[in-house]
Amino acid sequence: MPARVTLQRLAEMKARREPIVMVTAYDYPTGRTAEQAEVDMVLVGDSGAQVVLGHDSTVAVTVDEMLVLAGAVRRAVHTAFVVADLPFGSTEVSDEQAIATAVRFVKEAGADAVKLEGGGEARLSRIRAIADAGIPVVAHVGLTPQTAVALGGLRAQGRTADSAARIVREALAVQDAGASVVVIEAVPADVAAVVLPHLRIPVIGIGAGPADGQVLVVHDLLGITEGKTAAFVKRYGAIGPDMVAGVAAYAREVRSGVFPGTEHVYSATEVAVEAARAALEGREA
Ligand code: KIV
Repeated sequence: MPARVTLQRLAEMKARREPIVMVTAYDYPTGRTAEQAEVDMVLVGDSGAQVVLGHDSTVAVTVDEMLVLAGAVRRAVHTAFVVADLPFGSTEVSDEQAIATAVRFVKEAGADAVKLEGGGEARLSRIRAIADAGIPVVAHVGLTPQTAVALGGLRAQGRTADSAARIVREALAVQDAGASVVVIEAVPADVAAVVLPHLRIPVIGIGAGPADGQVLVVHDLLGITEGKTAAFVKRYGAIGPDMVAGVAAYAREVRSGVFPGTEHVYSATEVAVEAARAALEGREA
């Protein structure tokens, strides 16, 4: 089995300019898919609120729901570095609340690190607190879906002078606060490129152009997500329609009596069949 990916290994990959591959996973099968594809990092993203739980934003997902998803992924992933997203509402109240939530993801789900959105003052305090508690933190700046309403919707950030300057300041600040890795989401590549050379920690991009690594939502890249996806998504499969076609074919065969066929049934001895019949004796038909 390949050696487990550690923060040290991620830092070495950055130093060697070896691209870091990160993908989301939300359950045992997607975790196993990521592991078998030999990715470096797996993110149990709160995007699971949308792609597996059917909410229309990431805001609704709870800590207990995320713990179930993260635990299932951890049971499948033995090599890649597993990061669990801290959901909205689980860190906002205080540093103490943030530490307590992060500890649950490490102890109950076996996460290697937790991810926290935002780079404002309160967020920096949470990053410091969690990192000081000994839990690695992956920061997330640029488009932060948990607070998308305050950002004017799910749209690219860093396109105005103020917004571009804010992203650079926040990326540097989360590093100074003790983050071990930073995700930059939906930011013009030219703006991300300004701050990249000033970040010692690995930078994972999603819709931010070239970086030390990339992350995509697994349902988007495999073509399970229905409808329009973000402009930065590239599809590497189309298994959503295959899944529907498979279940529809099963439904047709059940309805027409083709399934189950003789090859899908268990055989029994004559004695067992006789005993089954005898068990009916004396009962009303
Ligand atoms: O929740 C998630 O999937 C994420 C990625 C989009 C970075 O935060």
